Amino acid sequence: RIAYVNGRYLPHKDASVHIEDRGYQFADGVYEVCEVRHGVIVDLTRHLDRLDRSLSELRIHHPMSRAALTHVIREVLRRNRVRNGLFYLQVTRGVARRDHVFPGPDVKPSLVITAKSTDPKVIALKNANGIKAITLADNRWSRVDIKSVGLLPNAMARQQAKETGAQEAIYVDSEGMVTEGAATNVWIVDAAGRLVTRPAEQGILRGITRTTLIDVSRHLGMEIEERRFSRDEMLKAREVFITAATSICFPVVEIDGVVIGNGHPGTVADKIRSTFFDIAE
Ligand code: PDD
Repeated sequence: RIAYVNGRYLPHKDASVHIEDRGYQFADGVYEVCEVRHGVIVDLTRHLDRLDRSLSELRIHHPMSRAALTHVIREVLRRNRVRNGLFYLQVTRGVARRDHVFPGPDVKPSLVITAKSTDPKVIALKNANGIKAITLADNRWSRVDIKSVGLLPNAMARQQAKETGAQEAIYVDSEGMVTEGAATNVWIVDAAGRLVTRPAEQGILRGITRTTLIDVSRHLGMEIEERRFSRDEMLKAREVFITAATSICFPVVEIDGVVIGNGHPGTVADKIRSTFFDIAE
């Protein structure tokens, strides 16, 4: 495997950044994960738009122009022979002697890009069987709209899920309303058969898959409502599913030991997933 690190393509095992990188010391950086399918990068423009936004919210300089960045991404995918898989892109504020205050303009941001193939069979199995989730209190900072590499709460939540035999942890806010998963957005099909997901402005990351699936559901003529929903409503929902670039749309068939719907992946999740790749660009 080959990784891109600050201007160089290196063997993955030798690729590293300096010990005083601010990503390492302060989680002072942002990232994107993007799906590649049949050699096509899914929703690249939306991912790069979100990267721009994350960088500007944190006042981190852009490592390079969009055209150059796109070129490097394609080169990393090519060198790793990824046809189906994903790339990971991370930008940090750069290397500077440890100080909470931002370094001066001479410090250049660090850029790392890696890529890997994924096994379509593993994904197909999750789609066919559904996954299990747990819920837990949302203990993250208030700027989860920024796709920052500060993912310790998310990592702890996923670990807790794993230790109870589940694959995702779903956050619930102090009012008992679902926010999102540790690395996914959450959707339900409510009692009236409407597709429901939390408004992106209210304490979640604006998932790119979420945005594209809203397009998909409108395209399919489905009723979709962006509103908050409670943990209780989720447990009683006809269907629950989670979305992210890494999983597109996984049905959730059990949450906190409670069976969702009839315990099998729902038809709505299936339908919008199969339409997704026709719409995504
Ligand atoms: N996570 N919410 C959170 C907290 C996320 O970390 C992610 C993605 C999403 C879904 O966003 P998108 O549809 O743009 O992937 C929602 C990535 C995949 C990760 O951390 O690996």
